[in-house]
Amino acid sequence: MNWQKNLKGKIKPGEPLKRHTTFKIGGPAEFFIKPKGISDLKLLLKGLKSDKIPILVIGAGSNILAADKGIKAAVLKLNAPDFRKVSFRGNYLNAGSGLMLQQLLSLAVKRGLSGMEFLAGIPGTLGGALVMNAGAWGRDIASLVREVKVMDYYGRAKTLKRKEIKFSYRKSGLDKYIILSACLKLIPAKQKEIRDNINKYLELRRNTQDTGLANAGCIFKNPQAGSAGRLIDLCGLKGKRMGGARISLKHANFILNKGNARSRDVLGLMRLMRKTVKQKFKVSLEPEIKIWN
Ligand code: EPU
Repeated sequence: MNWQKNLKGKIKPGEPLKRHTTFKIGGPAEFFIKPKGISDLKLLLKGLKSDKIPILVIGAGSNILAADKGIKAAVLKLNAPDFRKVSFRGNYLNAGSGLMLQQLLSLAVKRGLSGMEFLAGIPGTLGGALVMNAGAWGRDIASLVREVKVMDYYGRAKTLKRKEIKFSYRKSGLDKYIILSACLKLIPAKQKEIRDNINKYLELRRNTQDTGLANAGCIFKNPQAGSAGRLIDLCGLKGKRMGGARISLKHANFILNKGNARSRDVLGLMRLMRKTVKQKFKVSLEPEIKIWN
């Protein structure tokens, strides 16, 4: 319990997670903690480890379904200045894990550096995007990574080179660590070209995905058999409702929170989607969102 006394950052016991997830769903976290910086994080990790309190990092809360009943864990929000530093060296961008992808995109445009435009419209932090190897339009963030600075759960920092990280579709193995920052390799381009690219991707997203109501992006990973959304759509499940949750009419791999959805509504729809796709296509869908319970 000493860590609570010594910590410089804010600790909020029982903070409702629905305030911090893009789904706007989730009960109280045992502890919701914003470490003040890297040394504070180190101290915190050691304390949580010795008290055997599980640790979860929330990023921008955009790929998470948190249980209505809340979770017995310390949820960390890394938004102190140490986690939001940014610098450029030639074509390399060094950025803290707590920065939003969209902020990084704006900075890259100003700098005349291209390569990240496919990430336009993804509402995540750099750290979150790296952990799940976020991607769109045939590319993923792994393709940009030069190295990643991490801290293990004992509070020891180290740098992982690109080849030491096992990136694959929506996976990185980086969940063994807390990501502190990353170095991405970009390429020089004209600002107008980069801006046009961003607008092209934003429009593609607007045309194919729901952007209005609260959601957590794609619910399932794409199986070998192609787009999970297409399979769910072919099962006729678009528009299906449970409680306050509904399968999007625009993209069947999205579930929308109509305002008062609970995690059990979303889990119910997920079960229905999995079961129906399994029956019709003999394909097992695997969640892309992280389920915290
Ligand atoms: N389709 C349908 N019905 C639907 C949805 C899609 O028929 O309800 C068809 C489309 O018409 C298209 C094909 O399925 O022919 C593929 O659709 P889309 O281009 O929307 O891509 P996706 O495979 O469904 C993936 C990613 C998205 C990413 C898009 C765009 C996954 C699970 N999904 O979706 O990522 O934005 O490509 O590149 O990998 C996310 O990770 O949260 C996410 C939404």
